[in-house]
Amino acid sequence: MTGFDGLLPRPVRLARTDAVLPPEGYRLMITPDSVHVDAADDAGAFYAEQTLRQLRGPDAFRAAALHSGPTPLPCGVVEDYPRFAWRGCLLDVARHFMPKAAVLRFIDLLAVHKLNVLHLHLTDDQGWRLEVPELPLLTSVGAWRAGSWVGRPPDGTVEHDGRPHGGYYTTTDLREIVAYAAARHVTVVPEVDIPGHSRAAIAAYPALGVDGAPSSVWTRWGISETVLSDAESTIEFYRRVFSHVVDVFPAKVICLGGDEASGGRRLVTEIAAHLIRLGRRPMGWDDLLAIDDLPPEMIIGCWRSAAVSGHDVIACPERYLYLDHRQSDHPDEPIPVGYVTTVADVYGYEPPPGALGAQAAVWTEHLDSPRSVDYAAFPRLAAFAEVVWSPAPRDYPEFETRLAVHHLPRLDALGVEYRPLTGPHPWQTRPGVPGRPRYRDSS
Ligand code: ACM
Repeated sequence: MTGFDGLLPRPVRLARTDAVLPPEGYRLMITPDSVHVDAADDAGAFYAEQTLRQLRGPDAFRAAALHSGPTPLPCGVVEDYPRFAWRGCLLDVARHFMPKAAVLRFIDLLAVHKLNVLHLHLTDDQGWRLEVPELPLLTSVGAWRAGSWVGRPPDGTVEHDGRPHGGYYTTTDLREIVAYAAARHVTVVPEVDIPGHSRAAIAAYPALGVDGAPSSVWTRWGISETVLSDAESTIEFYRRVFSHVVDVFPAKVICLGGDEASGGRRLVTEIAAHLIRLGRRPMGWDDLLAIDDLPPEMIIGCWRSAAVSGHDVIACPERYLYLDHRQSDHPDEPIPVGYVTTVADVYGYEPPPGALGAQAAVWTEHLDSPRSVDYAAFPRLAAFAEVVWSPAPRDYPEFETRLAVHHLPRLDALGVEYRPLTGPHPWQTRPGVPGRPRYRDSS
């Protein structure tokens, strides 16, 4: 880039060519009197537009134009393409429901960062968020709980905060989310977690559980011992659920979870086979590697193990990419989760060679609103976006300067309530609310 002497005198011309650009790549040429884009494909043209927006300055990220007339642009050539095909972020809408508008906004934020997969964690012990019209109790019962732990009470004696919580997306909502994401080159990969993390489903249909006993949508966090059975009736139930998922979500990859539960092996292999029959690729967490006869088509989301043979891998290491983890040890941090994971830690992550890509995760046990999701996700997700887009080596001080000078003003313009680099703003800490004690969660 040279100087800020160029002006944009006419609408940007987006010319598609089949030039030697890799998938999703683009070439942007800005001269004093023109802007020209070559793109490998539609995604490449979209990313060129995102880069142009960055070059126009932070106000280009506002929802309405504040300026009329030409926008100054730096002259130069940018040739750019992603390092990984799968640049994902998981959003857990099961532990805390996020309203549809918040999901659409989150997709906008992924697209701004040239991320291209939204892994939507739709079901868990604490809530079922996916309408399945032929199985109405999943949402009329499974989408609601009596309250929530606020943090994790050390002795487990506190039942919950007494504040009911819930919500779900209708089929039409989900089709809208999928279409909105597709228009921004984001694929929505849905996750319905089996055989563990299924207590909301079992609360709705107790016969699904190993003992058929009545249950309730969980108000606590952790690993529930209430899990799905391997019975043929449970398998058939989940075939219906996943057939509906396949109907709503066009993604090639559908996640069936599989984390933090022993047993349920037959259920997992039968559902994986069902997805393959329906023309999709099953994905599951690395806990599933304990199963000998996993189909080779299964994509493994590695949150604990680094290397896997015989399967395609998405690297999702808790150590670097779980964005619910606390960002410092300072007592002002909101509910402190896990161990400290700083922006520099995320930026220093190097995905293993051969992975399809990598994925950050915004688990929401302790993030009860879009505002707290903003705090956890940003700016760490911006650091992650650079890791999966651009090759190493990296220089964190250089990145932090760019972040502070150029990128945080864009997030300000977008209205993202990120964690300031110096620590939480006073309103972002969680003072003790009467009746809602705050506990540490260092699990
Ligand atoms: C996970 O964190 N249980 C995938």
